[in-house]
Amino acid sequence: MKIAETVVEMRRLCRDLRSAKGLLALVPTMGALHEGHLSLARRARAECGAVAASIFVNPLQFGPNEDFSKYPRAFADDCARLEAEGVDILFAPGAAEMYPEGAVTKISVDGIGDRLDGASRPGHFTGVATVVAKLFHVTEPDRAYFGQKDAAQLAVLRQMVRDLNFGVEVVACPIVRDADRLALSSRNKYLSASDRQHALALHRALQAMEARLSGGERSSKTLVEEGTEVLRSEAGVRVDYVAAVDAQTLLPVERAEAGTLLAVAAWVGQTRLIDNVVAA
Ligand code: PAJ
Repeated sequence: MKIAETVVEMRRLCRDLRSAKGLLALVPTMGALHEGHLSLARRARAECGAVAASIFVNPLQFGPNEDFSKYPRAFADDCARLEAEGVDILFAPGAAEMYPEGAVTKISVDGIGDRLDGASRPGHFTGVATVVAKLFHVTEPDRAYFGQKDAAQLAVLRQMVRDLNFGVEVVACPIVRDADRLALSSRNKYLSASDRQHALALHRALQAMEARLSGGERSSKTLVEEGTEVLRSEAGVRVDYVAAVDAQTLLPVERAEAGTLLAVAAWVGQTRLIDNVVAA
């Protein structure tokens, strides 16, 4: 696996590899890799001739009081794991390479970028869209692989790709969970043993909503109340949002149906976790 730390080097490696091996995949990450990230790399490897990944803890997508400085970093381990998955090129730029002094241009995906996590974390999706647009420009991938775990992020990025005519196909990959059904996340490292027990309420809330839905309940309001109740009754959990929304626009729906995105976000101690399920 070749590692590029500069934009110029990454661009050159990607162009060479693409002409040698055909379809180029990109798997953007912030590192501290787990099986969720690796599932994206594996799928990219299976579907494309060449695979690039990136590790960049993007300061632009963290709010002033968020966890940028303590975000887990595990570069050596991450490299070994990506290499084992057959990734060809890793882009690992420093912050000054991605945002040289004087850089001011940002991509704001209006409306949709302020829904769900965008409402709870103002400016977050502007940071995400800006860095992903830059990664797309540098890498010029044919396909980019993202996890359904971050469903709002996926919707925002799909909108950006449409609006700005990026020639990349966005591929969504299923949520990878631990045996206890907690969705894998780099932030799970922050959880104590008791936090982790509390955190299982997120998935339980979604299951309760799904169960009501498959029992014939269509009212989003009722489903949201059901999910909220499960989260509220778990000590140590503070609800951020419980939502039933259109998976493309992230706008609330009145009646839930197949394809509706059921999404939750909650604080467990100091850690904000998200999870979701698309109604069957
Ligand atoms: P990060 O949180 O590192 O996630 C990188 C990719 O892995 C995202 O597409 C995310 O949805 C996916 N992922 C994370 N946990 C997953 C799980 N349990 N199952 C399946 N996929 C999972 O998302 C980001 O980084 C950043 O916002 C980024 C897109 C890299 C821009 O900075």
